[in-house]
Amino acid sequence: MTLQGKTIVITGASSGIGAETARLARFQGAHVIGLDRNDPMISLDVFVKIDMGDTASIDAAVAALPGRIDALVNAAGVSGMADKDLVARVNYLGLRHLTEALLPKLAKGGAVVNISSILGAEWPKRLDAHKALAATKTFAEGAAWLAKNPVPQETCYQFFKEALIVWTKKRGYEMFMQNDIRMNSVAPGPVFTPILGEFVQMLGEERVAADAANIKRPAIADEIAPPILFLCSDAARWVAGINLPVDGGIDALYV
Ligand SMILES: NC(=O)c1ccc[n+]([C@@H]2O[C@H](COP(=O)([O-])OP(=O)(O)OC[C@H]3O[C@@H](n4cnc5c(N)ncnc54)[C@H](O)[C@@H]3O)[C@@H](O)[C@H]2O)c1
Repeated sequence: MTLQGKTIVITGASSGIGAETARLARFQGAHVIGLDRNDPMISLDVFVKIDMGDTASIDAAVAALPGRIDALVNAAGVSGMADKDLVARVNYLGLRHLTEALLPKLAKGGAVVNISSILGAEWPKRLDAHKALAATKTFAEGAAWLAKNPVPQETCYQFFKEALIVWTKKRGYEMFMQNDIRMNSVAPGPVFTPILGEFVQMLGEERVAADAANIKRPAIADEIAPPILFLCSDAARWVAGINLPVDGGIDALYV
């Protein structure tokens, strides 16, 4: 697998999974453009500040990007300890807005990889709601749907990761057929990154202890980056609309 000569845009490039993905992509020859609200602490080819919860900020960042992009990795995200409206804006509505705004710049054969989560694994239980939300076309339409169909704070993180998996499949199929762009998602289990402590708070000690008994250990972010970049590469040219668990086997427990 090589990423030589490819231009890859990575949101959340200043920390955790996004930063490891940026580092590995550069190592494999890609030109990496990082987008984040915080300044990066690693070497990037280009860095553009962005607030993924704000459409004006996203549009300004897109205008600053070059005319040809080969892949977009949507890794920016917040935990369910943040207010549910912020979780909706950053983890779902803003991610969609950026992806749609970048679509004209994505080269044919290009790729989008969204970082979902094992916590989105129960999407089939709420499929009708997720399909209805996925059918909304814009940030504003999505926000209006959510105003009419409020999501509880306690489960908002899970809801928007589920929604992201369903949107990736529904919209990813269209993008592949109409635009020759492959959109997929990667669903990590727990990963040692700065956000992990917030997930522990969000889920509660009891649930975390039960989950810990089922896994060997949390992942290291550099175990998540290679599958993300595989999906960005030409080696995955026939892979479209999937949600790939990268979780040390936890997804198998849902069977
Ligand atoms: N760490 C885990 O256990 C885990 C597990 C499953 C899924 N995920 C998902 O992986 C993705 C990356 O998480 P991580 O573990 O690397 O966390 P992290 O906190 O290390 O990195 C998240 C990055 O997103 C950026 N970000 C947050 N809000 C933003 C905004 N409004 N605008 C621009 N940038 C913003 C942060 O500045 C940070 O650099 C997230 O979508 C997260 O939900 C993480």
